Amino acid sequence: MSHHGQPEVYVMKVGILGTGSIGGTLARKLSAAGHTVKVANSRGPDTIDPEVLSTGASGVTKEEVVTGIDVLILSIPFIRIPYLAPMLAGLPAETVVIDTSNYIPFRDDRIEAIEKGKPDSIWVSEKLGRPIAKAWNSIYSVTLKEMGRPVGHPDRVAAPVAADRDRDREVTMALVEESGFDAYYAGTIEESWRQQCGAPCYCTEITLAELPGALARADLARSRRRQDLAFAVYEEKYGTSGINPDGDFIVQLSRLINL
Ligand SMILES: NC(=O)c1ccc[n+]([C@@H]2O[C@H](COP(=O)([O-])OP(=O)(O)OC[C@H]3O[C@@H](n4cnc5c(N)ncnc54)[C@H](OP(=O)(O)O)[C@@H]3O)[C@@H](O)[C@H]2O)c1
Repeated sequence: MSHHGQPEVYVMKVGILGTGSIGGTLARKLSAAGHTVKVANSRGPDTIDPEVLSTGASGVTKEEVVTGIDVLILSIPFIRIPYLAPMLAGLPAETVVIDTSNYIPFRDDRIEAIEKGKPDSIWVSEKLGRPIAKAWNSIYSVTLKEMGRPVGHPDRVAAPVAADRDRDREVTMALVEESGFDAYYAGTIEESWRQQCGAPCYCTEITLAELPGALARADLARSRRRQDLAFAVYEEKYGTSGINPDGDFIVQLSRLINL
């Protein structure tokens, strides 16, 4: 057992779809942790930033990334996820598929079912026709890159994990821990709206001691309003560029609005 009571995860074969801010950082971290990692973007292995492959991950095509793996991490824009369904149809049922995505209406098309309250990851699970786990979605890209800490460090940031199946939960929590964050089981995918954009735990760099209270205080209508407020401030400063600002602007803004 690990320090946090999770079963140890042995060397896993991990595929990552998306090599941007989140997928690229996870590729580096999970390779450095000893896992066998392959990654793909939409354009082909030659276009992957060498930094992403600097700790041992290999760059492959989209089709190759989903073969012979124990875990598949989805780290592509939310709205593109349905296009993966045919490719994922051949994955064994037991493969752990982890969704890192967030529905962001200013960036994605409006999705009526989600506007009416369907949790983001229920929509993803339905589009893919299979169970998924949800993790890392609440961690800002700069936090993921720079704030990973060893187990027991007083500033270690916590990350909620949602999953319906025991193995999905165990494997996902172990990988979150290995990425430098305290994993906390936040409940089923149906309950995962508590970790979506605008929720108290979203991009606020809270600790394990603070996370259960933050999840309990989540209110979907308020999260939506808070997401709109945060976007209005972001847009005033950065326009619609979609950049992830360096430094702690997003975390400060999120703490001000979401907590
Ligand atoms: N940025 C954050 O702070 C943050 C935090 C938590 C969660 N998230 C979520 O995590 C997901 C990824 O975010 P990100 O910031 O890492 O995005 P990003 O930097 O824009 O990277 C997106 C990646 O997805 C790839 N991609 C797009 N469509 C694809 C497809 N059909 N097949 C394979 N690869 C595809 C892109 O490849 P190409 O470059 O070749 O197009 C790119 O490598 C999003 O859903 C986001 O909401 C983001």
